[in-house]
Amino acid sequence: MNLAVIGSGYVGLVAGACLAELGHIVTLVDNDTTKINALTGGDVPIHERFLPELIARNTSAGRLSFSGSIADAVQNSSVIFIAVGTPPMDSGAPDLSYVEAVAAAVAAHVGDYKIVVEKSTVPVLTHQQIHKVMMLNGAPLDSVDIVSNPEFLREGTAVSDFLYPDRIVVGSDSQRAAAALREVYEPLTSGSYYRRTDALPGPLGFPGSARLLITSAKGAELIKHASNSFLAMKISFINAVANICEVVGADIDEVGQGIGTDSRIGVRFLRPGVGYGGSCFGKDLLAFRQVAHECGLELGLLDEVIKVNEEQKCRFVRKVRTALWTLRGKRIAALGLAFKGGTDDIRESPAIAIIQALQQEGAQIAVHDPAAMDGAKAILGSSVVYASSAYEACRGAHALLVLTDWQEFAELDLVEIRSALRHPIVIDGRNIFRCEDMRAAGFHYYSVGRPTVDIGKGQHKPGGALDASVPFKAYAKRQ
Ligand code: NAD
Ligand code: UGA
Repeated sequence: MNLAVIGSGYVGLVAGACLAELGHIVTLVDNDTTKINALTGGDVPIHERFLPELIARNTSAGRLSFSGSIADAVQNSSVIFIAVGTPPMDSGAPDLSYVEAVAAAVAAHVGDYKIVVEKSTVPVLTHQQIHKVMMLNGAPLDSVDIVSNPEFLREGTAVSDFLYPDRIVVGSDSQRAAAALREVYEPLTSGSYYRRTDALPGPLGFPGSARLLITSAKGAELIKHASNSFLAMKISFINAVANICEVVGADIDEVGQGIGTDSRIGVRFLRPGVGYGGSCFGKDLLAFRQVAHECGLELGLLDEVIKVNEEQKCRFVRKVRTALWTLRGKRIAALGLAFKGGTDDIRESPAIAIIQALQQEGAQIAVHDPAAMDGAKAILGSSVVYASSAYEACRGAHALLVLTDWQEFAELDLVEIRSALRHPIVIDGRNIFRCEDMRAAGFHYYSVGRPTVDIGKGQHKPGGALDASVPFKAYAKRQ
C-alpha cells in the first residue's frame, strides 16, 4: 500500500520505517527541513536500536522516502498517518494545534477517498474534530474516514515494540477504513513478517502473530490515555512501596517480585527508581485528567500518581544529602541524562531535574551519557562538565549518582570506578547494581527501596539511619 506518515519524530520515524519494512511504500513528511535533509542524506536524528539499519535497507529498496511536502505525500497515498507532537499546555490539556494544522493541510489535497489515521496521542473525540477541520478545509464530503490507531511503542525499544506489539488497536467507525488498516498490519497479524529470514529479532516468547483489536474510534482514543495512566500508576505505586521498604529496612526486590508474580498484576513496570520521565506519561496523565474533568468527573487518582512521582525526585536529592551531608563545593559524578536507557531523549528527564536541584545547592557536576549529551547541552549548557566516559566523570568526585538505567552503566568495572572516585559512595536511583557486588567492591551504596550498604558497618543496614530508639511513626515522618 502507499502510505504517508506526517511528523518524523520518535514515533513517526519509527512507524514509517517499520511500515516500509512490512512491504509498504512509505513517504515520511516533516516540516522541519533540517530533519528531512538529514534523513535524505542518510543521517538518523534519534538514537534508537535497529532504526539506522531499518531506514537504510528500506530507503535503498525504494520503499521509504522523505519529503517536506504534505501535498505530494497525500496525493500518492491512500492512508495518511498523523504523528506530530501533542505537547502539554499550561492548563494540562494537550496542544492539538499541530494535529489541526496537518489535518487542514491534508484536506486541501484530498481528491479520491483517503483514510486519515491518528497516531499521535490525542484526547477522546479528537477524531470528530479532525473530520470537521478537514471538511471545513475543502475535503469533499464522504471522501475521508478518520481512524484512531494509537501507538504503544517505548523509546529505546521502539522498533521491536512496533514490529512485535502486545496488540494493535484500530479504532474505526467505518468498516472500509478498518479493512484498510487490517491490510496495513496484515504481515504482523498473519505472522508472515515473523517467518521472513530477514525479520528483525523480537522478544523471546512472542507468539506467531500479533493481536489486532478493532474498536470504536473513541474507544481507541481512550485506550491510549488509560494505558499510559495505568502504567504510570504502576510505577508510582511501586515507588511508594519502595519508600516504605526503605523506612523499615525491607528489600523492594523481594517485595516487587512477590507482588508482580500474581498474574493479575504482572512483574513488568514495577521497577522503582527516581520516578518516571519522558515526553508522554507526564503529559498524558494531565491530558487524561482534563478529559475526565470535561466529562464532569475528577480523576483524583492521577493527582496522587503525579504527586508520588514528583516526590520521588526530591527523595533522591535528600538521599544525596544523607550520603554527602553538605553539597556546596562537592564534586559529583552523574551517570545518565536521558529519561531512560537506550534513548537520547531528555524530555522530562528526572536526571536533568535532579542535576539542576543539586546545582542549586552548590554541587559541581560531571555528567556522562552514552547518547544524550548533545541534547542536554541545550538545557545544562556549560554548567556541568561533559565527561567522555563514566570513569572520567568519576575522577576525583565525592560520589557517583546513577540517574539513567543504561545497560553500559550496569557493566562498569567497579574496581576502576572505586579508584577514580575520591570517596567510595554510590547513590543509585535506578537499582542497576546488586547490593552484594557493591559491598564486595567496598562501596557505601544507597539504592531505591533496598537496604543501604554501609562498608563502615560491614553489613547491610536499613535505608536512612534507622534508630530503634525512635518510635516508628516519628521515624517515618522524619524521612
Ligand atoms: P516528536 O516531537 O519527536 O515529533 C513530532 C514531529 O512532528 C517533529 O519532527 C515535528 O517537526 C513534526 N511536525 C510538527 N508539525 C508538523 C507539520 N505541520 N507538518 C509536518 N511535520 C510536523 O514527537 P513524538 O515523540 O514522535 O510524539 C508524537 C506523538 O506520538 C505525540 O502525540 C506523542 O504523545 C505520541 N507518542 C509518542 C511516543 C514516544 O515514545 N515518543 C509513543 C507513543 C505515542
Ligand atoms: C511509554 C509507554 O511505555 C509506551 O507504551 C507509550 O507508547 C509511550 O510511553 C508513549 O505514549 O509515549 P516511554 O515513555 O518511551 O513509553 O518509556 P517507558 O519504558 O514507559 O518509561 C517511561 C518512564 O518510566 C522512564 O523514565 C522509565 O525509566 C520509567 N520506568 C519505567 C520506571 O521508573 N519503572 C518501570 O518499571 C518502568
